[in-house]
Amino acid sequence: MLKDTVHKYRPFPPVALPDRQWPNRVLTHAPRWCSVDLRDGNQALAVPMNVSQKLELFQALVKTGFKEIEVGFPSASNTEFTFNRRLIEEKRAPDDVWLQVLVQAREDLIERTVESLIGAKRVIIHMYNSTSPAQRRVVFGKSKEEIKAIAVKGARLIYDRLHRLKGTEIALQYSPESFSGTEVEFAREISEAVMDVWQPTPERKMILNLPDTVEVAMPNVYADQIEWMCRNLKNRESLVISLHTHNDRYTGVAATELGLLAGADRVEGTLFGNGERTGNLDIVTVALNLYMHGIDPHLDFSNLGELVRVYERCTGMTVPPRQPYAGELVFTAFSGSHQDAIKKGLAEWEGGGRTHWDVPYLTIDPADIGREYREVIRVNSQSGKGGVAYLLESEFGIELPKDLQREFGPIANDAVDRLGREVSGAELKGMFWQEYIERTTPWEIASFATESQNGSVRCRATLLHHGTPVTMAGEGNGPLAALVNAFIAQGQPRFEIANYSEHALSAGEAASAIAYIQIKHGSGKTIWGAGVDTNIELASVRAVLSALNRS
Ligand code: KIV
Ligand code: ZN
Repeated sequence: MLKDTVHKYRPFPPVALPDRQWPNRVLTHAPRWCSVDLRDGNQALAVPMNVSQKLELFQALVKTGFKEIEVGFPSASNTEFTFNRRLIEEKRAPDDVWLQVLVQAREDLIERTVESLIGAKRVIIHMYNSTSPAQRRVVFGKSKEEIKAIAVKGARLIYDRLHRLKGTEIALQYSPESFSGTEVEFAREISEAVMDVWQPTPERKMILNLPDTVEVAMPNVYADQIEWMCRNLKNRESLVISLHTHNDRYTGVAATELGLLAGADRVEGTLFGNGERTGNLDIVTVALNLYMHGIDPHLDFSNLGELVRVYERCTGMTVPPRQPYAGELVFTAFSGSHQDAIKKGLAEWEGGGRTHWDVPYLTIDPADIGREYREVIRVNSQSGKGGVAYLLESEFGIELPKDLQREFGPIANDAVDRLGREVSGAELKGMFWQEYIERTTPWEIASFATESQNGSVRCRATLLHHGTPVTMAGEGNGPLAALVNAFIAQGQPRFEIANYSEHALSAGEAASAIAYIQIKHGSGKTIWGAGVDTNIELASVRAVLSALNRS
């Protein structure tokens, strides 16, 4: 890289707007959305979608709730033309969905575009030409006047052909392409020249799309450009101001959100930000950002996972694991402290303790977009006891007492660290079983029976000690006390029961109950054991033996 970058690159000139209003505004409602997946998204694919892939994605966009869909560039290829014809002839678009088509300001292309639309219910004809100084100089070698003449001529060519679309409701859209790199005064001049031809009214508005074709500045600059246009264009009330951001500086979402504050009415973008270079605006993110603030986005992402699958199948692109809202890992916590906070937050929410969502680390309830809570907490070597306990409980109904969580957490953590990878709930259960339930040396149960008399319980147990049968008997105020006394009577070192709990296991488990017992040795040392059996009394005997075996 250059040391003296200033000699090669220059700062972006700010817009003179000292009384800008957008920083003091807040968003209160969703904009009109237009998906450009089938056009801008498609044209950026190494292998563009075929007709059946475009049809599948189109249906998914309709199902999501898009009412304006740019379906292609019908004059660009046969596939594009055929796709349009199939949509129209097979009546695939619901009556309230506008089919938008893109066309350059050229007569032959406009002719073919109009032809592709015959018989449609509702269409938006979107004409563009590029307006920035670099495009004027490098690509066209034309002056501002000549560039304006191209736009005016194209607008006229379209206008003169509208009578051919009888029975079709038509809206017209103009984009000064590379708007954000264009002087605002010239962007206004050329847009107003197109307006002069199309003569929009408040009842029959024209869409003026102001693209951030290449992100060349910070999002606040785009917002200034949009506010400047909204304030300086004539007949603002006859215009729908539309945003179309790309993501070259990774701030396409921010630019759109600030552009909405600056007065825009409509947003173009794609699912998950597919599009030229670093992509188009990700509409899913902007819509769910609104949702997160209690604003209905009028798009339905209740099954976002399914939408990801359709998108990946049709475009051949993949949604990265960190993609906002849609990525595999975006609702997942591996770190112990995050898991702990999420676990407590979810418990508070599920307990009905709050009216509004306020769970640490989770911006929205994953369940609202079809994500499962089980994805939220996953365990690797960064995780703590909370995550381990959460998985055991949520997947197997194993409710470890807090103090046992503190004992088993580090044991599991060491094992996971040795594995050097993420572990599943089933693997954690396996670790717990190996550490506690399957401990049969030196003590193992052969038989255990109790009888009660005058509030006292007598037990008779046959246990195996390293495989050798040992019979013992004892008495106490319950079966466990009787067992402890039997051990003492048999000459074993003293211990007492410090903690006890049990619960039924979930229906899927073969055994019906699990008991957790913490014993305290004469030395003061405490240790946990756990036992599983269909009989709760035997489960607790097994838990005592497990604790002794682990001592
Ligand atoms: O990025 C862009 O400027 C475009 C236009 C055609 C609207 O895609
Ligand atoms: Zn674009």
